[in-house]
Amino acid sequence: MSIRSRIFAATYDRMMAKGEKQGLRELRQRLIAQADGRVIEIGGGTGHNLAHYPAEVTALTVTEPEPPMVRRLQRHAAERAPLATVLRAPAEDLPFEDDSFDTAVSTLVLCGVDDQQRALRELIRVLRPGGRLLFLEHVRSDDVRLARRQNRVNWLNQFMVGCDCNRPTLESIREAGFVPDQIEHGEFPAAPSFVRPLIIGSATAPKRVDTDTAGRSAGTINLPGPNALST
Ligand SMILES: C[S@@+](CC[C@H](N)C(=O)[O-])C[C@H]1O[C@@H](n2cnc3c(N)ncnc32)[C@H](O)[C@@H]1O
Repeated sequence: MSIRSRIFAATYDRMMAKGEKQGLRELRQRLIAQADGRVIEIGGGTGHNLAHYPAEVTALTVTEPEPPMVRRLQRHAAERAPLATVLRAPAEDLPFEDDSFDTAVSTLVLCGVDDQQRALRELIRVLRPGGRLLFLEHVRSDDVRLARRQNRVNWLNQFMVGCDCNRPTLESIREAGFVPDQIEHGEFPAAPSFVRPLIIGSATAPKRVDTDTAGRSAGTINLPGPNALST
């Protein structure tokens, strides 16, 4: 366990407090209100979303790979969502059967996972076809000058908070095979300009091909675009 991950976990709530107060909490509330059925949240951190899950959620599993975060998450889950299950796992390797969930939630996580495409493919695998990914992520800016600045300062952002501020995450979500349905572009409140551009929205997991009748290898996913993935 690295010192950085301990410091990050210990300071995370304080670091986020101003942004949460100035609008992030509200953005979370609006997003999480759309969750229903069996829900998986990846990279749950200290549990900022826990209190927002609506009654339509029948089971909640929150995963998180970093032990210092897991401990805080467990404590907060006991207070805010006692029926939630907390599990230590990276988004790239989720210990669940295919089609286990109706909704997946990722808030401020896809910027920091080691392998974004692998994490997104795992989400497609564990979601039922037609299940939804709800996301709130800070991303690469559409403004060329700001995007250039993000490239310049990314090393610092990586060093300070362990994530990339310049990932084209919406494109990655599409590339993995999700079909985005609602996308809102917003701003991370009370944050430096290079982490401000936010995407908030949902995307639908693609349908799987019936591999027996299609006569193709098991695990092939039918994507809406020209790509096809093998799990
Ligand atoms: C910026 S925090 C966001 C926490 C929380 N989702 C929130 O909205 O407050 C990023 C979280 O992603 C976790 N993380 C880092 N690498 C990950 C990975 N490969 N898979 C899943 N989560 C990861 C970190 O440990 C951290 O808890």
